[in-house]
Amino acid sequence: MKIVVIGGSGLIGRQVVAHLAGHGHEAVSASPSTGVDVLTGQGLAEVLAGADVVVDVSNAPSFEDTAVLDFFTRSGRTLLAAEVEAGVAHHVALSIVGTDRA
Ligand SMILES: NC(=O)c1ccc[n+]([C@@H]2O[C@H](COP(=O)([O-])OP(=O)(O)OC[C@H]3O[C@@H](n4cnc5c(N)ncnc54)[C@H](OP(=O)(O)O)[C@@H]3O)[C@@H](O)[C@H]2O)c1
Repeated sequence: MKIVVIGGSGLIGRQVVAHLAGHGHEAVSASPSTGVDVLTGQGLAEVLAGADVVVDVSNAPSFEDTAVLDFFTRSGRTLLAAEVEAGVAHHVALSIVGTDRA
Protein backbone atom coordinates (compact mmCIF):
# COMPACT_ATOMS: atom_id res chain seq x y z
CA MET A 1 0.00 0.00 0.00
CA LYS A 2 1.05 3.64 -0.37
CA ILE A 3 2.23 5.02 2.96
CA VAL A 4 3.30 8.65 3.22
CA VAL A 5 5.82 9.36 5.98
CA ILE A 6 5.66 13.01 7.04
CA GLY A 7 9.14 13.80 8.36
CA GLY A 8 10.54 10.88 6.41
CA SER A 9 13.95 12.53 6.19
CA GLY A 10 14.34 12.73 9.99
CA LEU A 11 16.03 10.44 12.50
CA ILE A 12 12.91 8.32 13.05
CA GLY A 13 11.40 8.90 9.61
CA ARG A 14 14.35 7.49 7.68
CA GLN A 15 14.05 4.22 9.60
CA VAL A 16 10.27 4.09 9.16
CA VAL A 17 10.59 4.58 5.39
CA ALA A 18 13.27 1.88 5.15
CA HIS A 19 11.26 -0.63 7.21
CA LEU A 20 8.05 -0.02 5.25
CA ALA A 21 9.87 -0.36 1.92
CA GLY A 22 11.47 -3.56 3.20
CA HIS A 23 7.98 -4.94 3.78
CA GLY A 24 7.02 -4.19 0.18
CA HIS A 25 5.08 -0.98 0.71
CA GLU A 26 5.31 2.14 -1.44
CA ALA A 27 6.84 4.31 1.29
CA VAL A 28 7.00 7.98 0.34
CA SER A 29 9.11 10.40 2.35
CA ALA A 30 7.53 13.84 2.68
CA SER A 31 9.11 16.89 4.27
CA PRO A 32 10.23 20.40 3.33
CA SER A 33 13.32 18.91 1.65
CA THR A 34 10.98 17.07 -0.76
CA GLY A 35 8.62 20.05 -1.21
CA VAL A 36 6.01 19.09 1.41
CA ASP A 37 5.27 21.46 4.31
CA VAL A 38 2.63 20.53 6.90
CA LEU A 39 2.45 24.10 8.20
CA THR A 40 1.60 25.77 4.90
CA GLY A 41 0.05 22.72 3.23
CA GLN A 42 2.45 23.02 0.29
CA GLY A 43 2.70 19.77 -1.67
CA LEU A 44 0.27 17.85 0.57
CA ALA A 45 -2.50 17.27 -1.98
CA GLU A 46 -0.01 15.89 -4.49
CA VAL A 47 1.83 13.55 -2.13
CA LEU A 48 -1.37 12.28 -0.45
CA ALA A 49 -3.07 11.35 -3.72
CA GLY A 50 -3.75 7.62 -3.60
CA ALA A 51 -2.26 7.19 -0.13
CA ASP A 52 -3.74 4.57 2.21
CA VAL A 53 -1.89 5.63 5.36
CA VAL A 54 -0.06 8.66 6.72
CA VAL A 55 2.61 8.27 9.40
CA ASP A 56 3.46 11.61 11.03
CA VAL A 57 6.98 11.67 12.48
CA SER A 58 7.66 15.34 11.82
CA ASN A 59 9.26 17.50 14.46
CA ALA A 60 9.20 21.17 15.38
CA PRO A 61 12.35 23.16 14.53
CA SER A 62 12.37 24.67 18.05
CA PHE A 63 11.98 22.98 21.45
CA GLU A 64 10.60 26.12 23.09
CA ASP A 65 7.18 25.24 24.63
CA THR A 66 5.05 27.77 22.76
CA ALA A 67 6.76 27.09 19.43
CA VAL A 68 6.31 23.33 19.80
CA LEU A 69 2.64 23.65 20.70
CA ASP A 70 2.09 26.02 17.78
CA PHE A 71 3.89 23.68 15.34
CA PHE A 72 1.91 20.56 16.26
CA THR A 73 -1.42 22.40 16.53
CA ARG A 74 -1.06 24.03 13.11
CA SER A 75 0.56 21.06 11.37
CA GLY A 76 -1.97 18.61 12.82
CA ARG A 77 -4.93 20.64 11.61
CA THR A 78 -3.43 21.19 8.16
CA LEU A 79 -2.38 17.57 7.72
CA LEU A 80 -5.65 16.02 8.95
CA ALA A 81 -7.71 18.31 6.72
CA ALA A 82 -5.61 17.32 3.71
CA GLU A 83 -5.98 13.64 4.60
CA VAL A 84 -9.77 13.95 4.76
CA GLU A 85 -9.72 15.73 1.40
CA ALA A 86 -7.55 12.96 -0.11
CA GLY A 87 -9.58 10.12 1.45
CA VAL A 88 -6.70 8.76 3.56
CA ALA A 89 -8.15 6.14 5.92
CA HIS A 90 -5.45 5.79 8.56
CA HIS A 91 -3.31 8.32 10.45
CA VAL A 92 -0.46 7.22 12.70
CA ALA A 93 1.29 9.72 14.99
CA LEU A 94 4.42 9.12 17.04
CA SER A 95 4.25 10.59 20.53
CA ILE A 96 6.78 10.47 23.37
CA VAL A 97 6.85 8.36 26.52
CA GLY A 98 5.21 10.22 29.42
CA THR A 99 3.92 13.01 27.19
CA ASP A 100 0.83 13.34 29.41
CA ARG A 101 3.12 14.40 32.29
CA ALA A 102 5.01 17.03 30.27
N1 LIG B 1 14.27 10.92 18.22
C1 LIG B 1 13.71 10.22 19.20
O1 LIG B 1 14.38 9.47 19.96
C2 LIG B 1 12.21 10.25 19.42
C3 LIG B 1 11.64 9.45 20.40
C4 LIG B 1 10.26 9.46 20.59
C5 LIG B 1 9.47 10.30 19.83
N2 LIG B 1 10.02 11.10 18.90
C6 LIG B 1 9.15 11.96 18.11
O2 LIG B 1 9.28 11.59 16.75
C7 LIG B 1 9.13 12.74 15.93
C8 LIG B 1 10.35 12.82 15.00
O3 LIG B 1 11.55 12.92 15.78
P1 LIG B 1 12.98 12.89 15.07
O4 LIG B 1 13.99 12.83 16.15
O5 LIG B 1 13.00 11.85 13.98
O6 LIG B 1 13.01 14.36 14.40
P2 LIG B 1 14.08 14.99 13.39
O7 LIG B 1 15.25 14.07 13.14
O8 LIG B 1 14.36 16.38 13.89
O9 LIG B 1 13.28 15.07 12.00
C9 LIG B 1 12.26 16.02 11.87
C10 LIG B 1 11.52 15.75 10.56
O10 LIG B 1 10.43 16.67 10.51
C11 LIG B 1 10.46 17.28 9.23
N3 LIG B 1 9.79 18.57 9.27
C12 LIG B 1 10.18 19.69 9.94
N4 LIG B 1 9.33 20.70 9.68
C13 LIG B 1 8.39 20.19 8.83
C14 LIG B 1 7.28 20.76 8.17
N5 LIG B 1 6.93 22.05 8.33
N6 LIG B 1 6.54 19.97 7.34
C15 LIG B 1 6.88 18.66 7.16
N7 LIG B 1 7.92 18.05 7.76
C16 LIG B 1 8.68 18.84 8.58
C17 LIG B 1 11.94 17.37 8.86
O11 LIG B 1 12.06 17.56 7.46
P3 LIG B 1 13.39 18.17 6.74
O12 LIG B 1 14.49 17.16 6.95
O13 LIG B 1 13.02 18.28 5.30
O14 LIG B 1 13.66 19.48 7.39
C18 LIG B 1 12.41 15.99 9.32
O15 LIG B 1 12.11 15.02 8.35
C19 LIG B 1 9.00 13.95 16.88
O16 LIG B 1 7.63 14.31 17.00
C20 LIG B 1 9.55 13.44 18.19
O17 LIG B 1 8.91 14.07 19.30
C21 LIG B 1 11.39 11.09 18.67
